[in-house]
Amino acid sequence: MNKIKKIGVFTSGGDSPGMNAAIRAVVRTALFYDIQVLGIRRGYEGMINGEFVEMDRKSVANIIQRGGTILKTARSMAFMTPEGRKEAYDQLKGAEIDALIAIGGDGTFTGAKIFGEEYNFPILGLPGTIDNDLFGTDFTIGYDTSINTVTDAIDKIRDTAESHDRLFIVEVMGRDCGLIALRSGIGVGAESIMIPEMKTDMAALFNRLEMGRKDKSSKILIVAEGEGDSGGAFEIADKIKLKFPQYDTRVSVLGHIQRGGKPTCMDRVLASRLAVAAVENLMTGKKGKMVGLIHGKIAFTPFDLAIKHHVEINLDLLKIVEILSL
Ligand code: F6P
Repeated sequence: MNKIKKIGVFTSGGDSPGMNAAIRAVVRTALFYDIQVLGIRRGYEGMINGEFVEMDRKSVANIIQRGGTILKTARSMAFMTPEGRKEAYDQLKGAEIDALIAIGGDGTFTGAKIFGEEYNFPILGLPGTIDNDLFGTDFTIGYDTSINTVTDAIDKIRDTAESHDRLFIVEVMGRDCGLIALRSGIGVGAESIMIPEMKTDMAALFNRLEMGRKDKSSKILIVAEGEGDSGGAFEIADKIKLKFPQYDTRVSVLGHIQRGGKPTCMDRVLASRLAVAAVENLMTGKKGKMVGLIHGKIAFTPFDLAIKHHVEINLDLLKIVEILSL
């Protein structure tokens, strides 16, 4: 087995709070084991362009508490082509990088899988996405922060909704996955949740609104961005306005505030644990896998399994919303 002397670390795809904590832990762990680290800026795009920066202990000082990613991030079209990946490989070889740690989600690991196999290049991944939609980890880095941001924002919406006796439809992120909607929905006591994984039954929703407590002056319905059946938050609002003209209905789209901000302690600890495990296991020859935490224990999942949307929605959680919001 060749000893790893220099690794590259990068963030890619949508950023998530805790990515900086992960970068810090990768850098400090590698240096602890006398491995040099280069930061690759702007994900695969920067790899192709050779945007490498030497990382020392100081370069990651005072970032554990910061949202975003100091290495910046991008979604690269060029890396999807064999030519782009060849350029990336040449850049890595030129910089004498012998292994990579990729921090990101679906798209990042799809690229890592293809590139790792094409060039027999050792890569381990850290799950960095607010969506929590990767198989092989109970939680992704950034999810906890994001659902806390959403909870805080909707608590504020609840205040004004209550004052004005209004019904709010709140759109949260999650293009393909309803986990942000589901957990924050329980956290804020939402009246109903609509997610991509479940067919939206408008008749059932109307029924719930009709049968619901009459003394409840505000109502919060959460719609995940990827909800497709009913056309998303604005169309659902139009349908509700038609059926219940007596409700003063408003739509609020939370948007990218869900991706920023100080990571919670949970996300910082998760990022730190996974990053230390990634470096240590890269050293023993592990590759082609995402490092996650399952039932509190470090677990490795091949990239192709992690990304294939094997994440199942816990229907018990949906039921909890229905029972508690009545
Ligand atoms: O992948 C994370 C995510 O936040 C999704 O939930 C969301 O749909 C998407 O990114 C938004 O991406 P962009 O910032 O590129 O519009």
